[in-house]
Amino acid sequence: MCGIVGMVFKNPFSARDALTSLKRLEYRGYDSFGIADSNGRIQKFVGEIDETKAGDRLVNTTITHTRWATHGNVTEANAHPHTDCTGSIAIVHNGIISNFSEIREEMKAEGHRFASETDSELIAHFFEGKNIADSIPPFFAKFKGEYAVLLIKKGEDAIYAFKRGSPLVLGIAQDGYVLASDIYAFSDRTGNAVFFNEDEFAVVGKNGYEFYKVNGKLEPSEKQVTAFKWMAEETKKDYEHYMMKEIKEIPEASRRLLDSLEAEQRESVESIVSLVRNAKRIVFVASGSSYHASLLGIQFLRRAGVEAHAIVASEFKNFTLIDENTLVVAVSQSGETMDVIEALHGIKARGVKIASLVNVPYSTVQRMSHSHINICAGQEVAVAATKTFVNQVLAMAYIASLLGYAMDMRSVTGVFNSVFAQEARIKDVAKTLATARDIYVLGRGFSYPVAREIALKLKEITYIHAEGMMAGELKHGTLSLIEQGTPVICLAPKGDNDIMSTAHEVAGRGANVIMFSDEARGGIKIDSTGKVSFSVMAAMAGQLLTYYIAREKGLPIDKPRNLAKSVTVK
Ligand code: AGP
Repeated sequence: MCGIVGMVFKNPFSARDALTSLKRLEYRGYDSFGIADSNGRIQKFVGEIDETKAGDRLVNTTITHTRWATHGNVTEANAHPHTDCTGSIAIVHNGIISNFSEIREEMKAEGHRFASETDSELIAHFFEGKNIADSIPPFFAKFKGEYAVLLIKKGEDAIYAFKRGSPLVLGIAQDGYVLASDIYAFSDRTGNAVFFNEDEFAVVGKNGYEFYKVNGKLEPSEKQVTAFKWMAEETKKDYEHYMMKEIKEIPEASRRLLDSLEAEQRESVESIVSLVRNAKRIVFVASGSSYHASLLGIQFLRRAGVEAHAIVASEFKNFTLIDENTLVVAVSQSGETMDVIEALHGIKARGVKIASLVNVPYSTVQRMSHSHINICAGQEVAVAATKTFVNQVLAMAYIASLLGYAMDMRSVTGVFNSVFAQEARIKDVAKTLATARDIYVLGRGFSYPVAREIALKLKEITYIHAEGMMAGELKHGTLSLIEQGTPVICLAPKGDNDIMSTAHEVAGRGANVIMFSDEARGGIKIDSTGKVSFSVMAAMAGQLLTYYIAREKGLPIDKPRNLAKSVTVK
């Protein structure tokens, strides 16, 4: 997954400004970056975006790219933009060309010379010496896979933009236009956007734009301008990392969500509750932390008497119980996770209803849904999902409470601050775990999804191998891995005696047992009022623990290696 931004303005702007806009999409990938302008200048760099590197030359049209490497190593040559043999066409691309090997061989035979190992470079060579618009239908016919592409020609102040599979949106600013992977690239400039649909092409110039449907030929298409609201990005304020800022925002973000669900999103909530009531089966589809939130969601719904399943998005095609009696609930903070989008493709045609819980407004997943709820967490910059995970869980609990699951949402959110009272203790525990090789996190019932979520946080932020699992399963094999000093985190809500016997089992084999429970007992105190609040508070404590371990290890907390915030490739 990568981030692309194109800018074309009536008045010249500095190349540095172009990279500043690109930096707002850095969470989509940060291996390398580059910029091309309509004067034919191209600059490419390995590493995170440094806007100063572009210098302050004045330009009218730019395309920029921040990369998360798929085809080809992280090198300057593989950084975008890429050009054709003549250097007069430059492109940036987000997505994957699935038939790139055969196309590359064909082009080589035609005499094209390639400067990179990437699939993306083939796109520039395809348009070499051709009329761009005339060549769009043949391009869509030839190139398989996903792509959002911005193309410029030397000496021309226009951007050619086309999309299949990967997200692309046009921002309508005061004196020009911004094309980008998502609205966040330009939400500081405008609240008006035009969203690309599948197989669409647009020519965007200084004075206007034209959209076309690509259907074997170009068919002009009328497009609606959508007004959107998105919170202005705040800086890290006085926090050292976005991850800590976003954890500390949880109490405020959860209140904002509940206020919204009871007021401006009430209609959406009622629509989703009605979809649940009319469905025979509810199937959550999600990835990563959103999947772990969904594992809690199915527990809440089952306690309201609703049959529910949670399927990992990348495995969804193997799940067969999908028909007109099914409601699929897509859970995705970015709303751009390709595994989730792929899962949703084609199911509407089978009569399946789609609801979604998203954080980024007007994201692709939202626009594929019959009904959606925004989880109102505000922008989450750190790769690690923290406040968005909590708000996803609360949104699902809220819907379940309207379907009969008796729980008091306000009492749940009212206790979150007590986790922060444990911060010094959590920091001390983190110091003892910084050198761990493996960490096990055990939970039962509502705490099992939290065990998996804490293990994921540990892996992605501290680079320590961690396993989150059902406590009852440990004795069926994994117990053999417990040695003297192995750290085992046990999530022990009030009254869960079974987890206590598991804790004794591992302690008896020399494990370093760390209890998350209502009594400190040398571990971390979770002062909860019930199962839902325990789950959320244990997750928050796990987020803080992960943060402090990674900080102790001096790791890049907001941008961990190999990862990106929005996984827009399969
Ligand atoms: C969570 O900390 C990770 N960043 C990752 O697992 C993430 O939850 C997953 O990629 C799903 O993202 P989404 O919610 O935007 O779909």
